[in-house]
Amino acid sequence: PKVAVLMGGPSAEREVSLSSGRECAAALRNEGFEVIELDAGPDLAVRLADLSPDVVFNALHGRWGEDGCVQGLLEWMRLPYTHSGVLASAVAMDKERSKQVYRDVGLPVVDSLLASKAEVVASHLLPPPYVVKPYNEGSSVGVYLVMEGANQPPQLSDEMPETVMVETYAPGRELTTTVLGDRALTVTDIITEGWYDYDAKYKAGGSRHVVPAEIPQEIFDACLNYALRAHKALGCRGLSRTDFRWDESRGLEGLVLLETNTQPGMTPTSLAPEQAQACGMSFGALCRWMVEDASC
Ligand code: DAL
Ligand code: MG
Repeated sequence: PKVAVLMGGPSAEREVSLSSGRECAAALRNEGFEVIELDAGPDLAVRLADLSPDVVFNALHGRWGEDGCVQGLLEWMRLPYTHSGVLASAVAMDKERSKQVYRDVGLPVVDSLLASKAEVVASHLLPPPYVVKPYNEGSSVGVYLVMEGANQPPQLSDEMPETVMVETYAPGRELTTTVLGDRALTVTDIITEGWYDYDAKYKAGGSRHVVPAEIPQEIFDACLNYALRAHKALGCRGLSRTDFRWDESRGLEGLVLLETNTQPGMTPTSLAPEQAQACGMSFGALCRWMVEDASC
């Protein structure tokens, strides 16, 4: 079969997506697929119509690629594609609306609200410590931490969108769980020197991953359970990755769900492929599984 790997695109996570896309394209070639790499630009529909691939492997991240937009185009063109469909992608990418879904099914999340940039810079909308972030981006692009005791609200850069999310800061360890189909794989404990920001995510040595995480069984099982419930409640398909914070001083009460990523990173430092590997599934086998699972 002929597989078109979509990558790049115009989002703030363009570079991450190029890295994911190249990695997946190489693995799929190794698996014997005919692979075409496509940098997703405004002519995407025309190029796909020309190529008429059997499957589209979506390696895009962030806006337009992870939020239902490109999924809608692929539905329209009747091209089977990997990962989640239109609705799950759109809801998961919206950090505020996805929280409403999590609350509805009883998953623990921290308080948050949406506000305009002008409101956020004028006064504290939540007691510090809190976080300000775009409500629809990934990879910690544009995340501001307002520390406990801070006098001033944050000064937001011009690149921040007009509407942002303000969220109570959840302290503790960074844990994550990948779901593949109907199975939660394992838990990774992500250890960083400081904040798990863009550099810590993508620079070699920027973070250390302990997989399976060395945490109490109760917390481990809760991560598997919450990730699978989040994946199902959002209506995700194929691969997703759900991120958590765990304040170990508070036991199970201290575990909160931050978000579900419907297009988790597939770069050499990424968590989802590493979890698959830990469960005995090679990167190539994972990419093959995703192509075979594709639908529209
Ligand atoms: N947003 C990045 C790609 C991730 O969640 O892995
Ligand atoms: Mg994310």
